[in-house]
Amino acid sequence: MIKHPSPWLSLPNARSVDDLLRLPAQDTMDKREFARRRKRLMDIMNGGAIGILPAAPARRRNGDVEFPYRPDSNFYYLTGFPEPEAVLVLVPDRAHGEYLLFCREKDPKMEAWHGRRAGLEGACELYGADDAFPITDLDDILPGLLENRERVFYTIGLDLEFDQRLVGWVNRVRSRHRAGITAPHEFIALTELVHEMRLRKGPSEIKLMRQAAALSAEAHRRAMRACRPGLYEYALEAQLLHAFTAGGSRSPAYPCIVGGGVNGCILHYTANSEVLHDGDLVLIDAGAELQGYASDITRTFPVNGRFSPVQRAVYEIVLAAQHAAIDKMRPGNAWNEPHEAVVRVLTKGLVALGILKGRPSRLVKDEAYKPYFMHRTGHWLGMDVHDVGDYKVDDEWRTLEPGMVMTAEPGLYLKAGTRGLPKRYGNIGIRIEDDVLITKDGHEVLSAGAPKTVAEIEAHMSMAHGSAAGVDARAA
Ligand code: GLY
Ligand code: MN
Ligand code: MN
Repeated sequence: MIKHPSPWLSLPNARSVDDLLRLPAQDTMDKREFARRRKRLMDIMNGGAIGILPAAPARRRNGDVEFPYRPDSNFYYLTGFPEPEAVLVLVPDRAHGEYLLFCREKDPKMEAWHGRRAGLEGACELYGADDAFPITDLDDILPGLLENRERVFYTIGLDLEFDQRLVGWVNRVRSRHRAGITAPHEFIALTELVHEMRLRKGPSEIKLMRQAAALSAEAHRRAMRACRPGLYEYALEAQLLHAFTAGGSRSPAYPCIVGGGVNGCILHYTANSEVLHDGDLVLIDAGAELQGYASDITRTFPVNGRFSPVQRAVYEIVLAAQHAAIDKMRPGNAWNEPHEAVVRVLTKGLVALGILKGRPSRLVKDEAYKPYFMHRTGHWLGMDVHDVGDYKVDDEWRTLEPGMVMTAEPGLYLKAGTRGLPKRYGNIGIRIEDDVLITKDGHEVLSAGAPKTVAEIEAHMSMAHGSAAGVDARAA
């Protein structure tokens, strides 16, 4: 019996350790799901083709230390194979098997130092490869697989070293043309096809994304309960990371953003190194990755648990903008409709607050909101936090379809010193972000478990006093 080498695919046992987390049992991606994806891809590639996709390399962090390995999303989407030094080759209609995996062989000495490897046997048994070869034999075997194939599905430019090797293999095949062997003459980007597939999520992916979002929502609740003036921003980051890991996530989907006061106005602030002050807001943008799927949630709340009247006034505008965006997230609507709704609501709000002056429709045309809202309203979400898939098709904004997942994340960033900004609004940075699945009839907010209205946030934060979460926070 070969032990499964992937930490992603082992069931988390932490739910018994942390009674704050009560999540539904995690599922794992069915091996047949990966097979269905490869089949669908090969149907698109058609006969006479070969597809080649190398795994991401391991990356050095410093000295002898590597970053934790995270497979390339396209590679993982098609294989479920979690190791570096691997190459997926798809050869539709090949008599001796269409799905080939080149990977590391088993090596007891290396495994004693660095962990288990699937090996060639595991590549077939655990990951469903029809044939597996040592990665060291790539140069010997690949040219033969390219012979008499017309088209190569491979994306040039992502791995220059591998590009060069491929050119070498193709030239080797070309040199044999007097023996009646033909070389491929068409090169097509493989990743474009995979990205279109990844854009529409299937039931097992949706299930994982629901779990990832639920776990992140719990982490946000926990950070709200733990928050109090005098803590460092990283103490709240510790709360988030603890909740993620205890819930079975092996990595955040992106570095956590915990910004108090003016730091909330820095869109991708990740230093998380300053003290949280009484009277300030804190903006947390953090999401767990679960078995390769991202969540991406932002909540903004008062460090001391109560919004001031001014903070509340600005918050209600961002919240109204977010509701307007989510309202537009339904099948048949265009990608840009949520963003258009957001800029209308934010602009009207900025006029009501006295920050902008003029007719809202004119101000929207002139993009007068841009000093305070400088990013777009969302992005696709999936295996990558900024997921793949085109936003425009034939120069038109894409039409939303069931199975697509996107974020809704309007914000207002009122940085003190911005020209024309009344002093009382200084250093209020607010973003509210949810993960939204487009369904047959409309949408499902996957991250709805994170408190969002002023009343919900204040009620949730008031639960903390004297609780275990508070003790955790002081210790962190
Ligand atoms: N967390 C990155 C983003 O919201 O896009
Ligand atoms: Mn985010
Ligand atoms: Mn986002």
